[in-house]
Amino acid sequence: HRHLLGIRGLSPHDIEDLLDRADAAVAISRQAEKKSAILRGRTQINLFFEASTRTQSSFELAGKRLGADVMNMSVASSSVKKGETLIDTAMTLNAMRPDILIIRHQSAGAAALLAQKVGCSVVNAGDGAHEHPTQALLDALTIRRAKGHIGGLVVAICGDILHSRVARSNILLLNALGARVRVVAPSTLLPSGIADMSVEVCRTMQEGLKDADVVMMLRLQRERMTGSFVSSVREYFHYYGLDAAKLAHAKPDALVMHPGPMNRGVEIASEIADGPQSVIQEQVEMGVAVRMAVMQALMDPRRNTGAAQ
Ligand code: CP
Repeated sequence: HRHLLGIRGLSPHDIEDLLDRADAAVAISRQAEKKSAILRGRTQINLFFEASTRTQSSFELAGKRLGADVMNMSVASSSVKKGETLIDTAMTLNAMRPDILIIRHQSAGAAALLAQKVGCSVVNAGDGAHEHPTQALLDALTIRRAKGHIGGLVVAICGDILHSRVARSNILLLNALGARVRVVAPSTLLPSGIADMSVEVCRTMQEGLKDADVVMMLRLQRERMTGSFVSSVREYFHYYGLDAAKLAHAKPDALVMHPGPMNRGVEIASEIADGPQSVIQEQVEMGVAVRMAVMQALMDPRRNTGAAQ
């Protein structure tokens, strides 16, 4: 079985193929009759150990639009609460013969671990601070549709890089497609290995946003913070929150992106989140299309290589 565990391992051709498939899925989703029969007879299980609004609902809608039977495992009311392990839970669901298992888990490597154990395709919907591949694909689709291409664009990824699986997957994908990636963050919110990630590190928004084509803001992930990574939310917004004055350093037609959920007034001002340069709602729409594309590629009997690792 083939899986999508991360952007690492995908070739530029694999990524472009998924984005092309997603463009076709956007067309299906914009029809009055949204349902196709591509995954008819297939069973998809969504197994989310962490909270989600966008990813879980878009995976559910994506499966339904492709005609699959979709089951959302409610972890909060499952036997996980009685101490059942991740592997035992997954093996139990595996015995019900799903074709695709979508997993979100707080531990890095959880999706890869399951992929070794179960007899179906596994899609990583976010594993700790490691990867969130469908988020990077939907971000790339949003950028490609707005700008026509990704190669050569200057993309500034700003904020809590340290705790962000979204940042990691986006850095891998954008570099694979030839964008120039900058990260903008205080030193307390940068991972130690950032120097090896082929990015330009900027300490101020002015430097990082200068002539940027895309400004990608990240949520301050306070639930993953154990110490004091920021002195105060007020100070964080002053230096790193996206407002009109900071956005003015980017190109006039720069896209403003945020994966959600947003902390308004912490990493982004409401007037910018809801402003004319924001493509945050487009990102959500592209999320359904990308998830349709990924599941369709994984289940495509004509494809034996590529598209997913
Ligand atoms: N962007 C994202 O993964 O959002 P959710 O946590 O709501 O799924």
